[in-house]
Amino acid sequence: MDCRIAPSILSADFARLGEEVRNVVAAGADWIHFDVMDNHYVPNLTIGPLVCEAIRPHVEVPIDVHLMVEPVDSLVPMFAKAGANVITFHPEASRHVDRTLGLIRDAGCKSGLVFNPATPLAWMDHVLDKLDIVLLMSVNPGFGGQSFIGQALVKLGEARARLDAYEQSSGRRIWLEIDGGVKVDNIGAIAAAGADTFVAGSAIFGAKDYRATIEAMKQAVAAAQAASARARAEQQRRYTSA
Ligand code: DX5
Ligand code: ZN
Repeated sequence: MDCRIAPSILSADFARLGEEVRNVVAAGADWIHFDVMDNHYVPNLTIGPLVCEAIRPHVEVPIDVHLMVEPVDSLVPMFAKAGANVITFHPEASRHVDRTLGLIRDAGCKSGLVFNPATPLAWMDHVLDKLDIVLLMSVNPGFGGQSFIGQALVKLGEARARLDAYEQSSGRRIWLEIDGGVKVDNIGAIAAAGADTFVAGSAIFGAKDYRATIEAMKQAVAAAQAASARARAEQQRRYTSA
């Protein structure tokens, strides 16, 4: 199964952050999603490299840093030094997108672009070789606990098609991540639309049982991916027998 569940610590208990990240990883989380907000690019203020460094010894899974900041570049080496593994940013918040992607890779991290609901996918067109991950927002960035914007399913399909075409020509797979309003009851549809990496904040940290929630999410993703694979095989069979 091609699936990563990345709980967003925005909805964790910040007074017990070390324990929270250990618990969520013990419950099956594949990544830790780390939301950085600057009260400038988004109307909220959260956590920086010091907090990333503080949680780093508590978990071995990748830390996925989502920068909702403007400008971007000066924070990249700081987060890399603090133990980040993946760093994503919003392209319209960087004056030189190609350079920022290079900085992230040079710092030894996986690099990615984040697309707000209304940000066109064309931002990825000329930098695919420098991307390890594409993150589509299914809420407007800034807060946890918002509702999933349905149009993101259509956009996921379009992003999936672009990334599949790139994979066919390059042999390299770029992850497709979704962030905002992901729950147990919609994650199957989101996986069917093409996402393979799933951020969930309030749905996981707001649940009593982290393990049961993450397991239910993984089961829904597995079922959706199996159904998509069956549909593709059937299409292929009809095509070749026609
Ligand atoms: C929103 C953040 C998200 C947020 C998701 O700006 O980027 O990562 O924590 O929270 P939920 O899953 O509650 O929508
Ligand atoms: Zn995020």
